[in-house]
Amino acid sequence: MSEATEKSTAAHAAAPAPKTAAPGQMTRGDFLWAGWSMLAAFFAASAAAGARYLFPNVTYEPSQIFNAGPVSGYDLGVSTKWLNEHRVWIVRTETGLYALWARCTHLGCTPNWFPDQNRFKCPCHGSNYTLAGDVIAGPAPIPLWRAKITVASTGDLIVDKGVLADQPPKRDQPPFFLPLASA
Ligand code: FES
Repeated sequence: MSEATEKSTAAHAAAPAPKTAAPGQMTRGDFLWAGWSMLAAFFAASAAAGARYLFPNVTYEPSQIFNAGPVSGYDLGVSTKWLNEHRVWIVRTETGLYALWARCTHLGCTPNWFPDQNRFKCPCHGSNYTLAGDVIAGPAPIPLWRAKITVASTGDLIVDKGVLADQPPKRDQPPFFLPLASA
């Protein structure tokens, strides 16, 4: 072997190994890339969690308060005007006005108003209620609930189903009963 060939062979032997990994092993570049990827994934997940915190998955219930229009618009008797939309009857008597929540106190069905019998009757299990909401038949354990009512400065009746009363004397006085002169 010539001297030049020997030098070449020696230089080749001293050169660093190429940067290729053996099968199943990671190079330093692969390792760094994996690290950055994991970090990026972590920040992405944190950002998503933060966004979810800022915009929580909330179900908004319809308001329990509604404007039932002018008090002067209610004649003697039971108004079913708000039954479908708000599940409330407005009852006007000789002495005042109140709002009955149309929810049977047995299992929650919606009773019907029978003017000829002057009573509310539940179609589910037969509970009957008087005009005042008292139970006169069936399994209902307590009277119908009355909702809080107030009169706005405009003269409109404001009904709040979030505040309820079912028993006298509480239900027969403000804010569950609005005293009025005879119609
Ligand atoms: S739900 Fe009204 S009587 Fe049962």
